[in-house]
This record gives sequence, structure tokens and C-alpha cells, in this order.
Amino acid sequence: MKRVDDFRLRFGKQELVPIVIGGMGVDISTAELALEAARLGGIGHISDAMVQTVSDTRFDTKFVSQKLKQYKANVASSDKSDVHFNLAVLEEATRNHVGKTMEAKRGDGMIFINCMEKLTMNLPRETLRMRLTAALDAGIDGITLSAGLHLGSFGLIEDHPRFRDAKLGIIVSSPRALAMFLRKNARLNRLPDFIVVEGPLAGGHLGFGMDWAQFDLATIMGEVLTYLKNEHLDIPVIAAGGIFTGSDAAAFLEQGAAAVQVATRFTVTQECGLPDKVKQEYFKANEDDIEVNTISPTGYPMRMIKSSPGIGAGIRPNCEAYGYLLDANGKCSYIDAYNREVALHPTAKKISVKDKTCLCTHMRNFDIWTCGQTTWRLKDTSKRLDDGSYQVLSAEHVFRDYQFSTDQKIALPG
Ligand SMILES: Cc1cc2nc3c(=O)[nH]c(=O)nc-3n(C[C@H](O)[C@H](O)[C@H](O)COP(=O)(O)O)c2cc1C
Repeated sequence: MKRVDDFRLRFGKQELVPIVIGGMGVDISTAELALEAARLGGIGHISDAMVQTVSDTRFDTKFVSQKLKQYKANVASSDKSDVHFNLAVLEEATRNHVGKTMEAKRGDGMIFINCMEKLTMNLPRETLRMRLTAALDAGIDGITLSAGLHLGSFGLIEDHPRFRDAKLGIIVSSPRALAMFLRKNARLNRLPDFIVVEGPLAGGHLGFGMDWAQFDLATIMGEVLTYLKNEHLDIPVIAAGGIFTGSDAAAFLEQGAAAVQVATRFTVTQECGLPDKVKQEYFKANEDDIEVNTISPTGYPMRMIKSSPGIGAGIRPNCEAYGYLLDANGKCSYIDAYNREVALHPTAKKISVKDKTCLCTHMRNFDIWTCGQTTWRLKDTSKRLDDGSYQVLSAEHVFRDYQFSTDQKIALPG
């Protein structure tokens, strides 16, 4: 039986360990985590979700409070259509986050940025163009376009000097989505450098409906590989979602994947951005503590731990400070759900909104505990300490376990 280290991901002449740590917003996949993956010869992701907030935390900028101050008068209003992002600030924050990360990069691996196209920011095209352009300007090795795959994204940056040299990839969950993307972009004469095929067991938002359990990654990956073969296209395919052990990963590589993208096992590493207390919640979770629900205002199902504090919370929408999910008309389904509850309970001091969540605020505060389906197995990857808590792992330990383990074994920390 082969192990992951018997394979290499090839981009032209460059060879990488075929392990990609997936993007996890907001700053769950930190620069530190991505840098470890690159140092170890694989690929790490930072995320550009709510990058102003990330810049404030990392570099002591004041972007969020400045935006809130600018729109303070609007806070009590249910109409958020006037709340806009300053594109120069968005550019500066992206350049800070990406530029400083790239400066710190060591080793032979690469660092990509995960760009979720559902962050529509009340001006979808312009903000997306700025996010992509600023990341390329700041030297990112590659961009992974995800959540809501906007078919025109490549076109937004076709004039950028790095359009053909940076690695640009997409996340899809079906051959159909891939075919649509390729058709739409045929005129650019520029194929994606990689395709992440994400199955239904992944964390974050899912590219499936609530019938996600009827699909499985190996089948979808097989369909995508067949599609590419029939089209005579040679594009590396990266399998993602539910790959928990080195042996799971090796099986996908043997099936024809060029690499695997993994995330859940890294949520309990020191380098991961989740607060320590939340990491323990991930360790402790049992299978029936995990659900896929429809409370994300993006409209995509999302997987999370049921006891996430953000589920059912009824906080006032915080779009003046954040507002990343405002659509092109300044609307977000959480605002509607919140206003409905306020109207139904006019005298209540505190309300609860069950069907939607204020995702920006709760992801920012690590109060929506999104996770992969295999989270309940994390307790088997570590040791219990005397105080009953689980030992947080190093990213290097988990990375090397994926790289070298065989026979479904999971190495425990020393
Ligand atoms: C906590 C968490 C947050 C995630 N956030 C994002 C995200 O912001 N954007 C994205 O494209 N994928 C996101 N994902 C999906 C991962 O990048 C990855 O593709 C997937 O989870 C891999 O499967 P695994 O977690 O079973 O290893 C997230 C996953 C987790 C576990």
C-alpha cells in the first residue's frame, strides 16, 4: 500500500508534497498555519474573508472601527444599501495580509489565498476584482476561487500582469459546475491550474443541497477525471472533504487525484486561529453534535457544531462594521429574519433568530463553529491531559502524519 509521500503534485517543473491545507475563514487558516504547510513542502491557504478585520488583528490597523464610525448613523436602520466598502482600504488590508505572509514564507511549498465569491460586499464585481488584484500584487502564489464560484472571475483579472503566472484554481462539487466554468472562460485561453473537487463531508459551506448525504467524493472525483479525459484536458485534480488519514489520502492519489485538500484535522493545531476553548469543543464533539443547516445567509448549506453560540442568537445586524454578505442591492437574509422577529416581539429585550444567523459577526467572533463531518474523530488524534482537556497538536505533526502514515494509522503526539 502506497503512502502520500510516494506521490508529488506537479506544477510545471515544481514538485510539491501533495497535501493542501484548505482555506478556513475568518482567519481559522491563519498565516502561521499556511506558512507551516509551505515550509513542509505542501500548499497552505490563507483566506481573504473579512480581510479588514484580519488586518486589524494582525497589524493593528483600525479599518473596522473606521467603517463603523463612517456609517454610525445607519446602525439602527434596516436599510443597509448605503453601506459600502472603501476599495482603497480593501486593497490595503489585502496587501497587508498577503504581503506580510509572503515575506515570511520559507521552504519549497506554496501559499494560496481562498477567495469566497459569496462575499458580495454590496458591490460584487468591483470588490472581487480588488480582492483578486491586490492579492496578486502582493505576491500570492495562487488563488483558489470558492463558495459561489463566479464564472466571470478570471475575466476580472485577465489584464493583470500575473494572470498567466500565478496559480489560479477553482473549487467545484460536480463535473457540471466545472464544465460551466470552462465553457464560460474558453475565450480567455487560460485554463485553471488546478481543480479542487470538494465532496459533501467538508467543512464550511457546501456545494450541495440538503440532500448532501446522497453524494460521495470518490464518485464525483471519478466523474470529474472522466470528464477531463474526454475533453483531453490535463489539469491537476485535488480531492477534498472527509479525508482523515494518510491512507484515505493515498487512496485518492491512487485513484488519480494530484493532491488532497484537508482542513478538519488542522482545526486542533496550535497554528489554527480558533481560540483554545473552541479547539476543545472540536475535540469533544460527537457525531450527533454535528449538523448541516441552512442558517447561513449565503443560501448554501453549512456544517457546524450544534452548540455553536451563534446558532439562534438574535443580535442586531452589524453591517456598518462588517457587511460582507450584503448583496448587490444591500440586502442580506439575516436582516430580514431579524426584522421579522423584532416586529413579532416588539417589547422583548432579547430576541432569538432561528432560521438565519449574522454570519459576519459570528464568524468574526468564532461563534459559529463550522467543521468537517469527521470532526467527531478528532479525539482519536490526540491524548487527554490530566485536566481532562485534549493536547493541542502542532501543524507539523498533523501534516507529517498525513504524509507518512499507512494502514489507517494516526500518530499520537509525543
Ligand atoms: C473550520 C473550517 C472552515 C472552512 N472555511 C472555508 C472557507 O472559508 N472557504 C472554503 O472554500 N472552504 C472552507 N472550508 C473547507 C476546507 O477548505 C476544505 O476544503 C474541507 O474542509 C476539507 O475537508 P476536511 O475538513 O474533511 O479535511 C472550511 C473547513 C473547515 C473545517
